[in-house]
Amino acid sequence: MKKSVRKAVIAGNWKMNKNRAEAKNLIEELKPLVADAGCDVIICVPYTNLETALELTKGTNIKVGAENCHWAKSGAFTGEISAEMLTEMGVEYVIIGHSERRQYFGETDATVNKRVRAALDAGLKVILCVGELLEQRELGITEEICAMQTKVALGGVTEQELKNIIIAYEPVWAIGTGKTATSDQADEVNGYIRSVVAKLYGDAAAEAMTIQYGGSMNAKNAEELLSKEHVDGGLIGGASLKAPDFAAIVSAASK
Ligand code: PGA
Repeated sequence: MKKSVRKAVIAGNWKMNKNRAEAKNLIEELKPLVADAGCDVIICVPYTNLETALELTKGTNIKVGAENCHWAKSGAFTGEISAEMLTEMGVEYVIIGHSERRQYFGETDATVNKRVRAALDAGLKVILCVGELLEQRELGITEEICAMQTKVALGGVTEQELKNIIIAYEPVWAIGTGKTATSDQADEVNGYIRSVVAKLYGDAAAEAMTIQYGGSMNAKNAEELLSKEHVDGGLIGGASLKAPDFAAIVSAASK
C-alpha cells in the first residue's frame, strides 16, 4: 500500500456556522493562504452559503461542498434539499452520514446509503463519514461498527463510482471535544477501513481511496496525523472556521 498514490484532501465542515457576511470574509481570507496548496481543498458550507462560496471560489483551487442532501429527486420532504438541486448550482461535493446527522436527525446506515446513492446518481462527489461512539470503542467494537457503516453505506456502489467517494473516519468521541485520536489510533482504524474496502472492491481500489481522519484535527496536531500511512487528509470542523488554522492544516497536508 503506497500513500503516495493517493490524493491528500483537506475538507472544512463549517456545520451550522457563518452568516453570509462572515462566510464572505472567511473565504476571502482563505483564498490567498491556500492558493499554492499541494492537496485538494474543499469547504463544505451551510446551504445558505453555497451561492456565496461558489461565486467567491470561481477560478480558485477551493472546491465547494454541501453538508447533506436528500435521497429523493424531489417531492414532499419539507426542509430537505435534493442532490440535483446542489449539482444544478455547481456544487461538487457533499458530506453524507456525519455523526451529528446520525445523532440528532435519525440518520441510519440505510438512509446514509440512500443519500450516497442519490448523490452519486446526481454527479456529486461524496465525503462519507463513519466512526464509533465512545461506548462502542470501550466495548472493543470499533472495527465492527466502522465495517458495518462502511459496507451498508457502499451497498450498490460500483468500483467505478467508488472513485467519487472519500471516506472520513471520525470517532464520535473526538468530534468537537478537543480529544483527538492519537495518530496511531487514527492510522489503525483508517487502515482497517481500507481493508474493508479492499474486501469489497479489491486491493487496487482500496489503495487508491482517500481516507480522511476527522475529530479535533487542528493546526498543531495535523502534521503528525497526516504523516501516517493511512491518513490521507482531514475533515475539519472547528479549525475550518478560522482561515489561518485551516490554511496551516492545508500546508501540513501539502508536504
Ligand atoms: P471538529 O469536527 O474538527 O470540530 O472536531 C470534525 C467534524 O465533525 O467533521
